[in-house]
Amino acid sequence: MAFTIEKYPIPKRFRHHISPNTYIALSELKKVPEFYPPLYENIEWSEVYKNGLPPKYLDIGCGFGGFMFKFADLNPNDNILGIEIRQQPYDYMLEVIEKESLGNVHTIRYSVANKLPFIENESIEKIFYFFPDPWYKKKHTKRRAFNLPFLEECFRVLKKGGELLLQTDVPEVHEYQVEMLKDYNKFEVTQLNKEDYWDYPSTNQEVFCIRKERPFDRVVCMKKI
Ligand SMILES: C[S@@+](CC[C@H](N)C(=O)[O-])C[C@H]1O[C@@H](n2cnc3c(N)ncnc32)[C@H](O)[C@@H]1O
Repeated sequence: MAFTIEKYPIPKRFRHHISPNTYIALSELKKVPEFYPPLYENIEWSEVYKNGLPPKYLDIGCGFGGFMFKFADLNPNDNILGIEIRQQPYDYMLEVIEKESLGNVHTIRYSVANKLPFIENESIEKIFYFFPDPWYKKKHTKRRAFNLPFLEECFRVLKKGGELLLQTDVPEVHEYQVEMLKDYNKFEVTQLNKEDYWDYPSTNQEVFCIRKERPFDRVVCMKKI
């Protein structure tokens, strides 16, 4: 990378807690919870990216942006948008973007439960959805961003032949996602083996899994033409 991300240590003690309603679409809530992330109908891309163009890549639930920064560095002519619900990772990423004057990276604090109205139809080449929060308990599964409206939205914004890429270290989440993709039936779904080709930088959670020898699944979902 053009800069070392180690220059920006991730805060050791960071606040995990946010209101559970933050994971729910605002349209489904009776009142706006305190600190609910802002909604966006439109983003003026010429004000956020150096080349003035819209993003080609989305990193949904990007955390502290470990993957996003490496990917942006490898693809300097293409724009990537990181979407993250929590304030602290968002502040961290903004600081890196500003201090390093990164012209092809932008991030928003936003809950993807509210869909992606600020993204044009068929404008995105790849959506990265890596290591989502698992929400194991049955009563919490409604907090998972990966649901039918999410798949419909991914399908809408992806170019024909574009890809939704998934990684998770939670077998239950993997099965849930694959099942939903089968029902939706608008993506060609390929479940990868460990040794299969994967030409992407590691995410922070992926680095953690590799260090701990924790297995994880990868799925490539190509938008059917
Ligand atoms: C386990 S972390 C993984 C981060 C990163 N993708 C990685 O692989 O290292 C999941 C991230 O998704 C974010 N997230 C969860 N629900 C979200 C939502 N509805 N909208 C946006 N981000 C969300 C969480 O705050 C968290 O940072």
